[in-house]
Amino acid sequence: DHVGTKTLGLCLAAAHVLFFLLQYQDKEEVVLWMNTVGPYHNRQETYKYFSLPFCVGSKKSISHYHETLGEALQGVELEFSGLDIKFKDDVMPGTYCEIDLDKEKRDAFVYAIKNHYWYQMYIDDLPIWGIVGEADENGEDYYLWTYKKLEIGFNGNRIVDVNLTSEGKVKLVPNTKIQMSYSVKWKKSDVKFEDRFDKYLDPSFFQHRVGFDPGWVNFLCTYLCVSYMQDRDLGDEYGWKQVHGDVFRPSSHPLIFSSLIGSGCQIFAVSLIVIIVAMIEDLYTERGSMLSTAIFVYAATSPVNGYFGGSLYARQGGRRWIKQMFIGAFLIPAMVCGTAFFINFIAIYYHASRAIPFGTMVAVCCICFFVILPLNLVGTILGRNLSGQPNFPCRVNAVPRCCVRSFKAVLMFLLRYFIFTSFWAYKIYYVYGFMMLVLVILCIVTVCVTIVCTYFLLNAEDYRWQWTSFLSAASTAIYVYMYSFYYYFFKTKMYGLFQTSFYFGYMAVFSTALGIMCGAIGYMGTSAFVRKIYTNVKID
Ligand SMILES: *[C@@H]1O[C@H](CO)[C@@H](O)[C@H](O)[C@H]1NC(C)=O
Repeated sequence: DHVGTKTLGLCLAAAHVLFFLLQYQDKEEVVLWMNTVGPYHNRQETYKYFSLPFCVGSKKSISHYHETLGEALQGVELEFSGLDIKFKDDVMPGTYCEIDLDKEKRDAFVYAIKNHYWYQMYIDDLPIWGIVGEADENGEDYYLWTYKKLEIGFNGNRIVDVNLTSEGKVKLVPNTKIQMSYSVKWKKSDVKFEDRFDKYLDPSFFQHRVGFDPGWVNFLCTYLCVSYMQDRDLGDEYGWKQVHGDVFRPSSHPLIFSSLIGSGCQIFAVSLIVIIVAMIEDLYTERGSMLSTAIFVYAATSPVNGYFGGSLYARQGGRRWIKQMFIGAFLIPAMVCGTAFFINFIAIYYHASRAIPFGTMVAVCCICFFVILPLNLVGTILGRNLSGQPNFPCRVNAVPRCCVRSFKAVLMFLLRYFIFTSFWAYKIYYVYGFMMLVLVILCIVTVCVTIVCTYFLLNAEDYRWQWTSFLSAASTAIYVYMYSFYYYFFKTKMYGLFQTSFYFGYMAVFSTALGIMCGAIGYMGTSAFVRKIYTNVKID
């Protein structure tokens, strides 16, 4: 029986499959994203690239859908450069746009050059840096670099290396036109895709260009961790079999637990549907329509919550199912509304325009009681009747196993989980195209990591995997929330009680919802895994 090992292998393989999603076809569109511009000597002070009067290339639209969770989280607003770049398709040097340099624009550039401004761009997640311009020795004439020479290295179907050379120094003279140009040269490269970030980890590169950035540190940790995982054999292979009589023991606090799992499943369903609707409907054109859709979808998916929460509660032998249903149904609405009302009071106090009208509050309460609750009831009844019977592959011992010796195991487990978390959180922040992809990656990674960690836990003969799998997957939220602090203090210029509470309040709601969703996903995946391995075990 190597089912466990095989599943683990599958999970590791799945992680590798993710990397294949980054392949390109010949002539496929490659997007050059413009990120930020700012003084070289103060890395925290950044502005949007187009806050300087640069001009945009002629290509107006991209076929990729680009609003991503990562951008929203990080506040990075990558903007399309307008440059036409296709995979393995060389572009000869040519003008892509013209800057009409009036006095004002010249002053902006001169200010930037005086302060040694540099800018950052991304191609396929690879960061690229360039200098805006140069002053001559006596500091009277200022020059702008106008020609971006891009050399992109590819290995198979993937981009592995990018070099930018700035050329074409043009003196800034008011009331002239400055032509901006670019060229792209594709070169075969031997760099492996897995190693493509290595050049940024080279200490000399670090010193000169990147500076200290948590993203890179995370990346390094991950690298170490993954190699550690692959080298190490998976510990005692048989520990998990010892706990077969306890593995399916109900979790502690089944009421809260099943409510959390139910809510998490619902959040997942909502995210999935909203993203699909957004892709079809182009929701982003209208502000706020996203939120209304989300509320509508949330109400409509209430049966999902009832079904999963209710059936889990029944399987765990819970009797107070009405109470469970109420808690499950109102957990998320109460959290969101509580935060919103709290912020609202502050907003009213400050006479801010973001105060929520009284009518809206009443409407939200009505939706909770007259739509969400009844639909939850339907779901709960269905769930209890259709899958409320405990049918575990192993019998549960009457007496719980004593003396769980797992403190160290749990600690190691959380540590490992954090490292993994930082891995994919890093990936999400610098993320690829679509929200959908983000969600899929999020699910796969969460499930895989939680399974691997649960396996370690069971091998340490600790059977309390239910809460552990939920909490460890949910701890992602802690990471995101901590990141929001970093972001607040280093990347934004917010001030005042209202802005601060608005930001941290909603980030808390977002992180918690994300945590509950990940927790539920992690638990569902792990639960399937545990069932699978104990179905095949022969108990002697
Ligand atoms: C980028 O520059 C490095 C160092 O000069 C060089 O080794 C590498 O081949 C270049 N890559 C491409 C794609 O030109």
